[in-house]
Order: sequence, then C-alpha cells, then structure tokens
Amino acid sequence: MSQKKYRIIQWCTGVVGKTALRHFIENPHIELAGVLVTNPDKAGKDAGEIAGLSVKTGVEATDDVEKILALKADGVLFAPIITDVDMICRLLCSGKNVASVAGPFLPNEYFEAEQEKIEAACRDGKTSYLGCGVHPGFSGDILPLTLARLMNRIDRIQITEFIDKDKNPMVYTEMMGFGADPAELLAKPRRAPDTWRHFYQSLDLVAKSLGKQIEKVTSNFEVAKATKDIPYTLGEGRTGGGIVKKGTVGGQHYEWTAYADGRPLISYHFYWTMGENVEPKWDIDSRYQVTIQGDPPLEVRLQSPPDADGKRPFFGLPWTGLLGATALPALCDAQPGLVTHVDLGVMQPHGLARPA
Ligand SMILES: NC(=O)c1ccc[n+]([C@@H]2O[C@H](COP(=O)([O-])OP(=O)(O)OC[C@H]3O[C@@H](n4cnc5c(N)ncnc54)[C@H](OP(=O)(O)O)[C@@H]3O)[C@@H](O)[C@H]2O)c1
Repeated sequence: MSQKKYRIIQWCTGVVGKTALRHFIENPHIELAGVLVTNPDKAGKDAGEIAGLSVKTGVEATDDVEKILALKADGVLFAPIITDVDMICRLLCSGKNVASVAGPFLPNEYFEAEQEKIEAACRDGKTSYLGCGVHPGFSGDILPLTLARLMNRIDRIQITEFIDKDKNPMVYTEMMGFGADPAELLAKPRRAPDTWRHFYQSLDLVAKSLGKQIEKVTSNFEVAKATKDIPYTLGEGRTGGGIVKKGTVGGQHYEWTAYADGRPLISYHFYWTMGENVEPKWDIDSRYQVTIQGDPPLEVRLQSPPDADGKRPFFGLPWTGLLGATALPALCDAQPGLVTHVDLGVMQPHGLARPA
C-alpha cells in the first residue's frame, strides 16, 4: 500500500470547504498545507478551530492569496462561493493540481474560452484540473454510468434531486426565489432556461459513454404555492431568514432533458420544496434518485438515514466537499491537463478506513 502523503490546501471554508478541511485534517494520507479564507475574522485562526475540531493543526488560515500561491503543495480543493477561472489558472501555474467544486465543469463545449485558459495553465504548471461535486460531478454522471452496467437496454435515465428546504435550511432558499410571486418567478426563474449548460459536462459524459450524441436540451420550470406562512432560516451559522408567505412560491421544479436519436435520453429534475405545506404536493423525502427505464428497470436512492423526526437531512453540500477531497490524490497523480472521471477511473480513497 502506498504511504504517500499529499500536501493539500483548502481554498475557502463555507459549508462545502469546511467538510473537506475536516477530512484533510483527519485523513492520515493527507498533510494540510494551508487554508485560504476570505472572511477576515477567520484569518489567523487554526485550521482545526475553523473545521470545528478540538485538535490544533498548527496551520493558520490566511486571507493572503500570495502566501497561499507561494506554498509548496500538491493540490487545492477550490470551494469559493463563485468560481474564479483566473485564480484557478494561477494555482495551476504555481504547480498545484486543482479540484474545483465551484466549476467550471469541463470539458464543456459551452465554456470553450475557460477551457482553453485552464488547459494552458495545466500545460504551464504541469498540473491537472477537475470540476467536481455531487451534482454536477456524481449523481448525474458517475452514479448513473456505474448503474448502467446493470442494464441490458436503456430507454431513458432520470436523475432527480429532492430537497426539503424546510428540514434543510440553506442560504440558497432566499436567492432561489422562495417567497416570490409565482407568476413573476415563472416569467423569470432564478435558474435561467440555459442553466443546464453548467451541467452539460455531466449530460455529455453519460451520453457519450453510451455511444450517443446529444442533439438538444429542453428546459421546463414549474412552481408550487405555499398553503400557509412558512418561516425559514438560512442554515447553520447564518443570521437572517424570513417567512415564505401563503400563496407565494413554496416549491420549485426544474427539468432539463437531453435528447438523442430524436428521443429523450437523460433528464435532470430538481424538486426543492419548503416542507409539506405546498400545493401541488411533491415528494419531500430529500435524496438523489436515479431511475433507469429499460430492461431490467432500475431505481436507486442516494440518501442519508432519517433523523429522529423521520425526515432526512440532505447531505449534498458535505458530499460535495468529500467528493472533491477524495478525488484529489488521484488528481495529483494524474497526467497533466483537464481530467474527467473517465480518466481517473475507479478511485481508491486511502485513509478513510480508520478508527473514529
Ligand atoms: N458541484 C456541486 O455539486 C456543488 C454542490 C454544492 C455547492 N457547490 C459549490 O460549492 C461552492 C461552495 O459552496 P458552499 O455551500 O460551501 O458555500 P458557502 O457556505 O456560502 O461558502 C462559500 C465560501 O466562499 C467564501 N466567500 C464568501 N464570499 C466570497 C466572495 N465574494 N468571493 C469568493 N469567495 C467568497 C467564504 O469563505 P471563507 O468563509 O473561508 O472566507 C465562504 O464561506 C459554491 O461555489 C457552490 O456553488 C457545488
């Protein structure tokens, strides 16, 4: 067994970044090299404290980008709130492999300029880049592709993200238009009709792996209305929140469908609902679900066990951090350039099986 240790930097410590940071501190195959924060209150704090652990790591978080760029490290888990392609390129040029949960998700024909920049930076730094996360990055690509091997014939693949936003308060609740006037949100959804382009890498990976070419992608959007006032918060550690008023948007369903050979081949659905008090009533059991119509038909649910209240916590954000963290060793060992899941193959996540 390889005892190689990878020196890793955590870039930003929000919900996703904090999960990855904790993993880097606890995994004996990883050596934490540095932590970049944007929040000046976190600068100077020990990484263990930021990760919510009682251990002292001796690694202090910094908001000085140049200090991080100057560090000797194998890889970076890039998890800012919005992506920054120029910064990704600087990290790649400085000799650090980058796994970004904030995208861009490549290869993707709709992001050619970004792709060329990142490829050039990989050549300069002899480094590799991977866009990763739970979706895009896992539930809508590697998971259905792996499950496809259980099939004799595939008619259609549907991947659905269900999030009960009442049980799982998140910062996205407000920014995605919950509590808005239904007609206004339908006319101007917060996810524009071409948002599927950010997920195209995943759609394309599945289609091409099945030997198919995507001809077009269609987009649909519907809303559900709150049947009573629903108070909400913005999630752990955040102040703010409000009330989704009765009659306003209490649920949203986005659907993107990729066609091949003139027929729908892959659909992504997103059902986000503020609990049960909405009309129409949608399934609020938080999970990812892969349904493959064909021979034999298949359905797989990716979900956490329920809490004592019978409702499921949604682990999409921590899973995103962990999917990036566990891909980094393989990414660091990969050939320089843009890397996809197909290049990385079956990963071997060392350091997970350890005492608690
Ligand atoms: N691919 C997927 O499946 C997937 C799923 C979920 C999320 N994501 C992506 O993962 C990223 C992190 O999500 P999250 O839930 O962890 O978000 P979050 O909790 O809001 O944390 C984002 C962090 O970004 C830093 N930040 C704040 N303002 C910033 C600014 N103006 N510019 C750059 N960075 C700033 C802060 O880091 P510090 O606190 O350290 O200063 C903040 O904690 C997002 O880009 C999100 O879209 C991807």
